[in-house]
Amino acid sequence: MSAAESSPDGNAAAPRMKNDMGARFHAWLMSHAGPRYDAFTAERKRALLGGLRGNILEIGPGTGPNLRYYSRGNSWIGVEPNAHMDRHLARAITDAGVAAVIRHGYAERLPVEDASQDAVVSTLVLCSVVSPEQVLNEIRRVLKPGGQFVFLEHVAAPLGTRLRKVQRWLRPIEMWIGNGCHPDRETWQAIEAAGFARVEIEHFRLPLAHVAPQIAGRAIK
Ligand SMILES: C[S@@+](CC[C@H](N)C(=O)[O-])C[C@H]1O[C@@H](n2cnc3c(N)ncnc32)[C@H](O)[C@@H]1O
Repeated sequence: MSAAESSPDGNAAAPRMKNDMGARFHAWLMSHAGPRYDAFTAERKRALLGGLRGNILEIGPGTGPNLRYYSRGNSWIGVEPNAHMDRHLARAITDAGVAAVIRHGYAERLPVEDASQDAVVSTLVLCSVVSPEQVLNEIRRVLKPGGQFVFLEHVAAPLGTRLRKVQRWLRPIEMWIGNGCHPDRETWQAIEAAGFARVEIEHFRLPLAHVAPQIAGRAIK
């Protein structure tokens, strides 16, 4: 079951983002490029997402490639600002058979109560949010004590490397194509500094050109 709702904080702008053409293009791009990324990460996603139970909130679920990894019986909320993702997301929800609600909104202001979620999930989202620090604060706010933030993100290459320079040059292009994506973000530093009780981060690479460096892991509140 799914329902697309506007965020209850009155964020009426969410269903139509400022750059609507970019948002529409990004939904198209993710629906085509997503399966390739998923093929590289399926095993990691199974390990990270398959064991989650209870109330799960996913920020920026996009076209919904993660839904198939959750076990049935959980309650899932997706907080997604791009309404052009809705029809892809609705299909993924139906295929997965998960009890799900889509809320149009931004991860900087999550439309749920304090300490209400067993898990918060982010895959390829912290590169795009306006303020990773604010989003991580929100994630800690909505997690129950002992709840976990699970992430899989592409990140900056090591400083001083050629790849890091390429990521910097590509940033303006990625900001448009990726609808706000920063390819050279040191996201692991923000997660480590966010005040979680425990953080487990694996750094690894995928054969994906300028977005090869990746991190995956969990942070426990
Ligand atoms: C690269 S896509 C990743 C989508 C999906 N998580 C995946 O793994 O395929 C980035 C997603 O983050 C969403 N997004 C961007 N800024 C956001 C924000 N501030 N809050 C929540 N989602 C955001 C985009 O609309 C998009 O769906």
